[in-house]
Amino acid sequence: IRIYIPADAAAIACGAERVVAAVQKEAAQRNQDVTIVRNGSRGLLWLEPLIEVETERGRLAYGPVKAKDVASLFEADFLQGSDHPLAHGLTEDIPYLKKQERLTFARVGITDPLSVPDYIEHGGFAGLSKALTLASADIVQEVTESGLRGRGGAAFPTGIKWKTVLGTPADQKYIVCNADEGDSGTFSDRMLMEGDPLCLIEGMTIAGLATGATKGYIYVRSEYPHAILALNRAIDAATTAGWLGDNIRGSGKAFALEVRKGAGAYICGEETSLLDSLEGKRGLVRAKPPLPAIKGLFGKPTVINNVISLATVPYVLAHGGQAYANYGMGRSKGTLPFQLAGNIRQGGLVEKAFGLTLRELLFDYGGGSASGRPIKAVQVGGPLGAYLPESQWDVPMDYEAYMKVSAMIGHGGIVAFDDTAKMNDLARYAMEFCAVESCGKCTPCRIGSTRGTEVIDRISANENREENVELLRDLCNTMLGGSLCALGGMTPYPVLSALQHFPADFGIEQSAES
Ligand code: NAI
Ligand code: SF4
Repeated sequence: IRIYIPADAAAIACGAERVVAAVQKEAAQRNQDVTIVRNGSRGLLWLEPLIEVETERGRLAYGPVKAKDVASLFEADFLQGSDHPLAHGLTEDIPYLKKQERLTFARVGITDPLSVPDYIEHGGFAGLSKALTLASADIVQEVTESGLRGRGGAAFPTGIKWKTVLGTPADQKYIVCNADEGDSGTFSDRMLMEGDPLCLIEGMTIAGLATGATKGYIYVRSEYPHAILALNRAIDAATTAGWLGDNIRGSGKAFALEVRKGAGAYICGEETSLLDSLEGKRGLVRAKPPLPAIKGLFGKPTVINNVISLATVPYVLAHGGQAYANYGMGRSKGTLPFQLAGNIRQGGLVEKAFGLTLRELLFDYGGGSASGRPIKAVQVGGPLGAYLPESQWDVPMDYEAYMKVSAMIGHGGIVAFDDTAKMNDLARYAMEFCAVESCGKCTPCRIGSTRGTEVIDRISANENREENVELLRDLCNTMLGGSLCALGGMTPYPVLSALQHFPADFGIEQSAES
């Protein structure tokens, strides 16, 4: 009998290793023959460790399982799919999962992440096999037709980026995967790398074929040791099976991959700092142009994409660009793996087509706040994203619609706060975060962020409040327009949105701009 116990870091943090040991011990004592598969997480994080038993009816879910629950599960004969207080029935029928549209995360939590045969059985390498039959320009065309845009946050069309690299002649080109997932409340990159690393490897190899790059690097933040391990093992497995290396599946085409570990700086998630760091230097933001697509790693044309962008490419090639473009709305095509975090009852990963609303995510999926108190504000798009008040929760999740309300979807991180949150403190936190993480290259960010925390402190202490609010707005405008990169340039979003939508928390009656 097969039992699935996730090896995902979130499940491990909740005691998955102890559950594995308990299941092994209990099964041995009862002479039960079980095979434990260490899968990725299904993304229902409040149920982790979520263990599944394979039965004739399908996979049955039990969770959250603690080591101390294991004896009672065996007692109740859960291996035969019997009922138990922790039982949730068929995993696929759990509403949180059933209502999702999992394209990029189709295999995550289902397969054994390190098994090439399992990967292939679930549709893996179909995209790469197709790509091997196509000319580079045709692969790029397919990706362009899919409408896929950069999932790291900036939403630049992936096909256009690849076209630039394809059209730039060079003796060496590179594919770099930005896996320095630093946004607060985000974990989709990590879940994908731990739960389906072969999918990222396949996507990067397709990117190599599409642009003429033969070498790739995955830059993973040091806080993700499980992802690093999974990727290294998956690279070995794919190479042994002939899907990576000098002669991919006998095609004569080559692509090699290496994993590199970051050192804990948020700014190294900015693409040009990341390239500096990969080159062995201190991560400092480079001025653009030249774009990395023209002059990137070691001065060579480089595709640099986020994990989710690259891991979506196998679907696009396997099913065709149009199939992907059929999901979503407006210019926001396809799906996004949203990540529900913060003060939320059912935190986890929800992959859905663009167009749903924040309210649906917060309540239909998230189940409201974990504290049971009313949700007051939601930060969407990481620490540089705006705080959205309830009046904006019905705006459709679409890059352009969000821009219209001075917010951004970014990497899809959603962090909920209940009515005990003090928005002046959160605005201060944004400035403080920027001050700590600033690379120091430009003045509005390096100095402005420190001055920003001081001005907010004065507002909170009611020192010349009106004058200081005006000063804060002025400072935010300077940072918005005068910073070299998104860190300094977008820190004003959380600050200004807090000020605009929650003026009472700053001790002012109404924002001048609201
Ligand atoms: P950007 O708008 O400057 O660039 C977007 C991408 O398009 C870059 O890769 C750029 O090189 C490329 N590009 C632009 N024009 C091009 C052309 N003509 N040909 C080829 N490539 C072209 O945005 P940036 O500064 O790279 O990213 C900012 C975003 O990063 C923010 O919106 C934020 O959401 C996100 N972010 C994500 C984090 C995470 O953990 N995922 C953390 C912090 C920020
Ligand atoms: Fe560095 Fe901040 Fe300037 Fe970005 S905005 S280049 S992080 S100082």
